Amino acid sequence: MEKVAIAADHGGFELKEDIKLFLKEIGYEPVDFGTHNNNSVDYPDFGIKVAEAVSRGDIQKGILICGTGVGMSIVVNKFPDVRGALCNDIYTARMGRKHNDSNILILGGRVVGRGIAMEIVNTWMSTQFDGGRHQKRLDKIKELEDKIRKGWI
Ligand code: RB5
Repeated sequence: MEKVAIAADHGGFELKEDIKLFLKEIGYEPVDFGTHNNNSVDYPDFGIKVAEAVSRGDIQKGILICGTGVGMSIVVNKFPDVRGALCNDIYTARMGRKHNDSNILILGGRVVGRGIAMEIVNTWMSTQFDGGRHQKRLDKIKELEDKIRKGWI
């Protein structure tokens, strides 16, 4: 069963619990990196855990939830080979896979309702990358990451 790394801060904790159940229903194994209750925590601590697992290639896909999804997006897109997509609607979830090959789905737990969130997860998990002209664009992002690593910025 394919593993999916998942984590949230307190703004996304409840939705994370629902998404874990849903992932199991549709045939995935969620690997939960926390948080484990509603107590206030700092979203970078949880975003980093999932981004590390995906960046290293330990797990191919991740899902992160904070209040808006903005904080988690900022954190994960600092990691090499991580393409985090904040998708609070189904169209963005579909295109974020087809065109961007996003490997971390980010949701706003205070933005989307439970029903829409499950549709977004289902769409994002089941949509394949189109490749072709979109691969050339991802290659440019990879080149940028390499330059930054070498001290270009
Ligand atoms: C926490 O209150 C909130 O700031 C956080 O969940 C997230 O929305 C940050 O981007």
